[in-house]
Amino acid sequence: MHFSSGLCLFIALVCQVSCEETIIGLYGETVEVPCNKGAPKPKDLIMTKWKYNNGALLTQSKDKNVTVKATKEYMNRVSMTEDSSLLIAGATLKDEQTFTCMIVVDGDISEFPVKVIIHKAPTTLDFTSPAAELEIGKPTQLGICSAHDANPAAVITWYKNKKPLLADGKGIVISSALKVDNETGLTTTTSVLSYTAVKEDADAFFTCGTLNSSSSPISFNVTYPTEKVSLQVVSKGPFKEGDNLTLRCKADGNPPPTSFNFHIKGKVVKVENSDTYTLTKVTRKDTGEYKCSLIDNAKMEDSKNLTINYLDMSLGLPGKVTKRAGEGLTFNLADASGELESVAWKKDNVKLNKQPAFEKLTYADSGKYEVVVTMGPLNKTAYFELVVEGVPVIQQLKTQKAKDSQHSVLLCTAEGFPKPTVSWSVNGTVSSESSYINGEITHSLTIVPSVNLTVACTVSNELGQDTKFVNVSILYEEVKMDKQDSSEDSDSTKLVVGLVVSLLLTTVVVGLVYWLYMKKSKQGSWTTGEKDDGSNEESKKLEEKIDEKLEENIQKVEV
Ligand SMILES: *[C@@H]1O[C@H](CO)[C@@H](O)[C@H](O)[C@H]1NC(C)=O
Ligand SMILES: *[C@@H]1O[C@H](CO)[C@@H](O)[C@H](O)[C@H]1NC(C)=O
Ligand SMILES: *[C@@H]1O[C@H](CO)[C@@H](O)[C@H](O)[C@H]1NC(C)=O
Ligand SMILES: *[C@@H]1O[C@H](CO)[C@@H](O)[C@H](O)[C@H]1NC(C)=O
Ligand SMILES: *[C@@H]1O[C@H](CO)[C@@H](O)[C@H](O)[C@H]1NC(C)=O
Ligand SMILES: *[C@@H]1O[C@H](CO)[C@@H](O)[C@H](O)[C@H]1NC(C)=O
Ligand SMILES: *[C@@H]1O[C@H](CO)[C@@H](O)[C@H](O)[C@H]1NC(C)=O
Ligand SMILES: *[C@@H]1O[C@H](CO)[C@@H](O)[C@H](O)[C@H]1NC(C)=O
Ligand SMILES: *[C@@H]1O[C@H](CO)[C@@H](O)[C@H](O)[C@H]1NC(C)=O
Ligand SMILES: *[C@@H]1O[C@H](CO)[C@@H](O)[C@H](O)[C@H]1NC(C)=O
Repeated sequence: MHFSSGLCLFIALVCQVSCEETIIGLYGETVEVPCNKGAPKPKDLIMTKWKYNNGALLTQSKDKNVTVKATKEYMNRVSMTEDSSLLIAGATLKDEQTFTCMIVVDGDISEFPVKVIIHKAPTTLDFTSPAAELEIGKPTQLGICSAHDANPAAVITWYKNKKPLLADGKGIVISSALKVDNETGLTTTTSVLSYTAVKEDADAFFTCGTLNSSSSPISFNVTYPTEKVSLQVVSKGPFKEGDNLTLRCKADGNPPPTSFNFHIKGKVVKVENSDTYTLTKVTRKDTGEYKCSLIDNAKMEDSKNLTINYLDMSLGLPGKVTKRAGEGLTFNLADASGELESVAWKKDNVKLNKQPAFEKLTYADSGKYEVVVTMGPLNKTAYFELVVEGVPVIQQLKTQKAKDSQHSVLLCTAEGFPKPTVSWSVNGTVSSESSYINGEITHSLTIVPSVNLTVACTVSNELGQDTKFVNVSILYEEVKMDKQDSSEDSDSTKLVVGLVVSLLLTTVVVGLVYWLYMKKSKQGSWTTGEKDDGSNEESKKLEEKIDEKLEENIQKVEV
C-alpha cells in the first residue's frame, strides 16, 4: 500500500515535468479541461483550485460553492463541473495555454497542468481565378485555392480526377502561402497551382481540398492547335444523281477552326462560321476528288474521292425491232457508273431465268421483252418488241395413209414470218391448218387420188415463197419428199416399173405351174372319188399358196 502510493507520487512528480496532458478544444465552443484526467475526487479533499499563468481562476473549498477569482477575459467565461473540470466558454486561440488544477488533500498539494489547444476547420474553401483555358504544353495558372481562418493552418491539396497532384517542378508547380489574422490568430492558406496541360485534360476535372472539405470540380477548355484535318461525308451514300451531298471538314484542334477551304473539283470555296458544304442535286459530273483544308495552313488537308452513281438504260434498240431469222441481235444493256447488280428479263410478261441468247434469232424469239437492270438504289427498265421475220421454208412435206386406205392425208409444215399462206397443187376433200406457233404452221390436205400424182405444196408470205413436191399414188404412198427433179423422177419410175414387171412375171409363172398341174390331174393320175376329193383339196391348197405369194409381192411393193 505504501509502496504503490509512493509510485503514484513518483509518476505524478515526473508528469509535472514532462508528461503534461494536452487537450484539444474547438474554436468558439466550450472547452472542458479535466482535472487529473477526470479521476474521482479524493475523500479527504480540502480544496480545488484552477489557475493559469496569470493567476487564479476558480477555487472551491470542501462543501463550499465555487468562487470565481478570475478577472478580465476569463471573468465571465469560466466555471467548474461537479467532477472539478474547468469549463471555458467561447474558446479562442488566446485560450491556447496551460491551465493547472491544484488539489489540496489533508496537507498534501497536487498540481495537474493541462495544455489546451484550439482547433478550427477552415470557414470556407474557395477555388478562385480559374484559368480561361488550358493550352497544351503551356504552363498556366489553373486557379487559386484558399482555405480561410483555420487552426492549425489548413493543408491544401490539388486533385485531378480525384487523384492528388504532386508538385514535380515541371508540369505541376504548387505554391502555398499562409496568412495569419493578427486579431484572431487564425490562418488562411492560399495555394496556387500552375499546370501544364496535356491533351487528355480536355475531359479532366480539377478540385482542391483540405482534410474534410473539397471544392466543387472545375473542368477547363483545353486548347491545342490542329494536327489533323479530316473530310467527312455527312450524307449517307452511295450517291446517285439528284442527291444532295454534304461534306464536313473536321479539324482536331481546340477550339476548332471556324472557317475552312473546300476544294470542289479544283475550285476553292471558302466557308466561314461553318464546317460543312453542301452540293445540291449532284450529277455524274460531280464524281471526283474533294478536299478541304485550313484557311491559314493549306498543308492541313484531307481528300476523298466521291462517286455519283448513275444508271442509264441504253439498249440502243428501237421500240420495235424487226430481224430476219438466223440473224443476230446486238445491244448494250446500260451505261452505268459501276457493275450492274442484276439484269432481269421478261418475255411476254413471263420471267426468263437468264438473258436470252440472240446470236441466231429464231421465230420463237419473237415477243415483247422487258429488261430491268439494277445497280445499288438505281434501277431502269426498258421494253422492246422483237419481230423475227423470214421467207417461209417448208420443213416437211409428207403423206399419211388414212385409216381406211382410201385417201391420203398430205402434211406440209413450214416456218416463216409473217404467217405463210399454204397452197396445194391439187384440190382436197378436207383441208385444215394447225395453229401458228413460233413461226411454224402445218397444213393438212386430204385427197382421194384417182391417178398417180405429184403434189406440190407452196408456202408464201410477202418476203418470198417455197415449194416442195410429194408423190401420191393410188396403190401405195411414197413417203419420200423431194424437190422436183426429172432425172430422179425417171429413175424412181424405172424402179417402180421393174417391181411391177417382176410381180407380173411371178403371177404368170405361178399361173403356168397351176395350169400344168391341172392338165396332169385331167390325164387320170388321180381317178377315185376320194382321190378326186384329195386332188380337190390339194388344188385348193395350191390356190391359197398362190394367193399368199401374190399378197406378199404386193406388200413388198407397198413397203
Ligand atoms: C451556494 O450558492 C447557492 C446559490 O447559488 C446558495 O443557495 C447557497 O446558500 C450557497 N452555499 C453557501 C455555503 O454559500
Ligand atoms: C474531419 O472529419 C473527421 C471525420 O470525418 C473528424 O473526426 C474530424 O474531427 C474532422 N476534422 C475537422 C478539422 O473538421
Ligand atoms: C493588425 O495588423 C494591421 C496591419 O498589419 C494593423 O493595421 C492593425 O492595427 C492590426 N490590428 C491589431 C489588432 O493588432
Ligand atoms: C469552353 O469554351 C466554350 C466555347 O469555346 C465555352 O462556351 C465554354 O464555356 C468554355 N468552358 C469553360 C469551362 O471555360
Ligand atoms: C436538296 O436540297 C434542296 C435545297 O437545299 C432541297 O430543296 C431538296 O429537297 C434536297 N433534295 C434532297 C433529295 O434532299
Ligand atoms: C482519288 O483518285 C485519284 C485519282 O484516281 C488518286 O490519285 C487519289 O489518290 C485518290 N484519292 C483518295 C483520297 O483516294
Ligand atoms: C426501282 O427504283 C424505284 C425508285 O426509283 C423504287 O421505287 C423501286 O422499288 C425500285 N425497284 C427495284 C426492283 O429495285
Ligand atoms: C380445184 O377446184 C376448183 C373449183 O373448186 C377448180 O377451179 C380447180 O380447177 C380445181 N383444181 C384442180 C387442180 O383440180
Ligand atoms: C400408178 O403407179 C403404179 C406404180 O408405178 C402403177 O402400178 C399404177 O398402174 C399407176 N396407176 C395409174 C392409174 O397410173
Ligand atoms: C416420185 O418419187 C420418186 C422417188 O422419190 C422421185 O424420184 C420422182 O421424181 C417422183 N415423181 C414425181 C412425178 O414427182
